[in-house]
Amino acid sequence: MSDSSGFDRKWEENIYGQGFQLNKYPISDVVSYVMRLYGQRFRSKEVLRVLELGFGGGNNIVFLAREGFKTYGIEGSHSAHEFALKQVKENGLEAELIVGNFAKLPYRDDFFDLVIDREAVYCNVPSTIQQTIKEVHRVLKHGGRFLTFMYSLEHGSRLLDGGKLVDSNTYDDFEQGCFAGTGVTHFFSEEEIIRYYLKDFEIEFMKHLRVDSLIPNERNEYAEYHTCASKK
Ligand SMILES: C[S@@+](CC[C@H](N)C(=O)[O-])C[C@H]1O[C@@H](n2cnc3c(N)ncnc32)[C@H](O)[C@@H]1O
Repeated sequence: MSDSSGFDRKWEENIYGQGFQLNKYPISDVVSYVMRLYGQRFRSKEVLRVLELGFGGGNNIVFLAREGFKTYGIEGSHSAHEFALKQVKENGLEAELIVGNFAKLPYRDDFFDLVIDREAVYCNVPSTIQQTIKEVHRVLKHGGRFLTFMYSLEHGSRLLDGGKLVDSNTYDDFEQGCFAGTGVTHFFSEEEIIRYYLKDFEIEFMKHLRVDSLIPNERNEYAEYHTCASKK
């Protein structure tokens, strides 16, 4: 169910086209990392360019634009793009949002200060992930940052929710749980992120977060890496 660019259309057909997951509020970890990394620089009125890959309903985009970034985004789903444009307009803000596959970025080399992947790159097979991260490296300025949120192999859904293995640590067609209906899902290892995908970046910080539910269901709810890396 991929379109001609390779984007998995399940996000459009099963999720945003049905009115699901059109979030209004930014993800709290995006807010706290961005404010920690750029809060001082916002005060100096320096113009910084940010790109969000797979911005969904535009919830993080609105936050980034409000804080003064010159804000760009690329998203595969038309319905999500439409909703995000509306959110930006209703908030009296500006952002350049386009529909497209982020494995090919229509921006010039050395253009962005920051690229954010808040759980979007993981929705792809490893060859697309590798191509996307090469593109991220190309469009970042020297020293520009890539802030990425990637699910880890410890995520409970990987083995418990009936996904079919389609590639290395990559699943599709989950029968239940948070990935049901969303399509291709890749789970990362620490080694793979550091030595393979981000080998041309300098890692500034990397964290592994794990949330285990105890009641009502005793199982891992989610596990993910938060990594901030700069272009060497
Ligand atoms: C889990 S949602 C995250 C949305 C948003 N970043 C957030 O934090 O709320 C993943 C998003 O990535 C988009 N996406 C996945 N693969 C893509 C690709 N190859 N090109 C463009 N968008 C993609 C999906 O359509 C979806 O909107």
